[in-house]
Amino acid sequence: MLRERFSRPLAKAALALSSSVREDAELLRADLWGSRVHARMLGETGILPAPAARRIDRGLRAIERLVAQGRFQLASELEDVHLNVESELVRRIGRDGERLHTGRSRNDQVATDLLLWLREALLDLEEGTTAVAVELGRRAEGPDGSIVVAGWTHLQPAQRVYVAQILGTHALRFLRDAERFRSIRERIVDCPLGSGALAGSSLPLDRRRSARLLGFRRPSPSSLDAVSDRDAVLETLSALALLGVHTSSLAEELVLGSMPEVGRVRLADEFVSTSSLMPHKRNPDLAELLRGESGPAIGRLVAHLAILKGLPLAYNRDLQVGKPLLFEGVERARQGLEVLEPMLRTARFLAPASPAGDTGSVELVDALVARGVPFRAAHGRVARLLGKLERTHRTLRELSPSEWDRAFPELEGTPGLPDAEEEPERRTTEGGSARRAVRSLLTEVRARGWIAAAAARSERARLARLRHLLDAPLRPHFRSTHRPS
Ligand code: ARG
Repeated sequence: MLRERFSRPLAKAALALSSSVREDAELLRADLWGSRVHARMLGETGILPAPAARRIDRGLRAIERLVAQGRFQLASELEDVHLNVESELVRRIGRDGERLHTGRSRNDQVATDLLLWLREALLDLEEGTTAVAVELGRRAEGPDGSIVVAGWTHLQPAQRVYVAQILGTHALRFLRDAERFRSIRERIVDCPLGSGALAGSSLPLDRRRSARLLGFRRPSPSSLDAVSDRDAVLETLSALALLGVHTSSLAEELVLGSMPEVGRVRLADEFVSTSSLMPHKRNPDLAELLRGESGPAIGRLVAHLAILKGLPLAYNRDLQVGKPLLFEGVERARQGLEVLEPMLRTARFLAPASPAGDTGSVELVDALVARGVPFRAAHGRVARLLGKLERTHRTLRELSPSEWDRAFPELEGTPGLPDAEEEPERRTTEGGSARRAVRSLLTEVRARGWIAAAAARSERARLARLRHLLDAPLRPHFRSTHRPS
């Protein structure tokens, strides 16, 4: 196909490099939708006779059915999804099929397909990240949430917190991911279709009509931009890299928590593996895989940025190399979220057997501050005492009452050092560790989770309605009003 001006076919090895059909199967539904809209617009504006447009639509619908049944195979010698669909159409309906590409290029076609595909992919990601956030919030509100554990800095026991705050904090990260995917989706509003190869068309296309039928807000304002812009792809890969980082951080805590020496997490049997050699092993493989997936997620972003760097306007074939990065990135993230959510639902969070370290030291310093001791002086006194205790392998809690009174006379009659279980309750600042603050964190998680889920539901409904627009009979001589001048 498309070799009329050459005397020889593409070299065999060149064809293999040139073909994108392996990844393009992803775009089939979007491509057919875009083509049906384009054909309808051509028929409505009279660029094509209405009967030809109707025959094209019937042919494309037949191909849609083949695709739905999984019976449409892409041929690699036809280079990409666009040429495959077109050639199947011609095979089915003959010459009228050859009119479909009127006023269109594969350059505006692939840009349109990618945006249609992305809108739905982003929705899946919104739903997947929201589901994880909601599950984390649910677990935080459940009985495991009230367990007190050491919060870590530098992986050392720092200050004790409720498990609920840890889970609610991870939930916030996934909510931000969901909100990020949504905002990328909501900024996909400019329809590339009708931009042609790079400079628009001399035919009287009704770009507003195509944009409306495909659910965009308007035709893209520059044809040069429309065929070369991959910002939404890049933003998605960037949001996926960040999701990978969030997932990896949570997965790492599940891995560490599962170490018998730490004993804070027990993953369900469905999400652990054993060793082919050591029968006692209970390995958190799935959490490790989730952690590992963040590497390629970051890599795909960097790889795509590097593809775009230095590309002049407008379409350049390099852009084709970016497509599998997007498809694979979305697919791996979807799979990861599908594992993470039930892994969290079935995990048990445990109270560690031995309380770790003198984590109440900060509260002790604060108690001295409340009695008028300057902070630095209080910190120094507690630190010196801790140093002394460490040499004799003792903790603050093991001080005798008289040692205590001698060390901190100004605290007489007050519990300067909280019980381990009481530590989180001492920190009542907004966003802090006390139960009240954690409760409002979880209320926020619930509210934002609800909003994110509702936004995704309403977009799903909008997309379903759009599909029905093509069921209406074709209206010849239709033109959008309020065309831009
Ligand atoms: N196969 C290309 C891609 O996937 C689309 C069309 C390329 N356009 C061209 N003039 N060769 O990006």
